[in-house]
Amino acid sequence: MNLELTTDRLILKPFSDDDLDLVVALRTDPNVMRYISETATPERLAKRMIDFCRRSEDGSMGMWSVTLAESGEAIGTSILLPLPEEAHDTRWDFHENGKLVHEDVEVGYMFKPAAWGKGYATEVTGRLLRFAFEDTPLTEVVAVTDPDNAASQNVLRKSGLIDTGPRRAYCRDLPGFAITKDQWRAGQAA
Ligand SMILES: CC(C)(COP(=O)(O)OP(=O)(O)OC[C@H]1O[C@@H](n2cnc3c(N)ncnc32)[C@H](O)[C@@H]1OP(=O)(O)O)[C@@H](O)C(=O)NCCC(=O)NCCS
Repeated sequence: MNLELTTDRLILKPFSDDDLDLVVALRTDPNVMRYISETATPERLAKRMIDFCRRSEDGSMGMWSVTLAESGEAIGTSILLPLPEEAHDTRWDFHENGKLVHEDVEVGYMFKPAAWGKGYATEVTGRLLRFAFEDTPLTEVVAVTDPDNAASQNVLRKSGLIDTGPRRAYCRDLPGFAITKDQWRAGQAA
């Protein structure tokens, strides 16, 4: 399976050890982390790279780096990963290649502030949904956001996800979103 995904403007590559600078730029920035969690130190993030690079389902579940096709600049990360309910973070230890994922799978993203407002998150979400429904056995993709993260909610709705009401995730009751494979197909045909 080809895990390097492209869009008109972006290249998504499976996350690797080379992406430490990107993850540090994102996760030490309080603006980026405002609706996600506390910021982390570069030292702590370096130790977590082993988790961030983990993949399951023959590599199709995990994190991708997002770079601009034109310049090669790394601008963000995106995920397809099992959604934790009663845990504060993804259960990274579940991810081993070849293993099947039994929980709901969430789509997610974070970008450097300089890249916000250009439609990149919507472009990435559209590509990951296509990947999920055309290249993996998934029949549904879900998402959650902080109640105040209006930009992310906009991205999800623009990408065809439907509000499903509050759902348990990350030990909180958060606005939930979902799209089934059939709904996605209907959206492509429209
Ligand atoms: C949320 C985030 C990924 C959006 O990325 P982006 O590339 O700017 O998103 P897009 O440009 O594709 O779309 C954003 C949409 O939200 C709108 N928007 C942006 N800020 C907004 C705000 N504060 N309130 C309401 N709408 C907002 C934009 O206008 C756009 O909608 P439009 O195309 O209808 O105008 C980006 O802001 C980010 O990385 N934030 C920090 C990490 C994060 O919160 N990730 C999501 C966790 S659930």
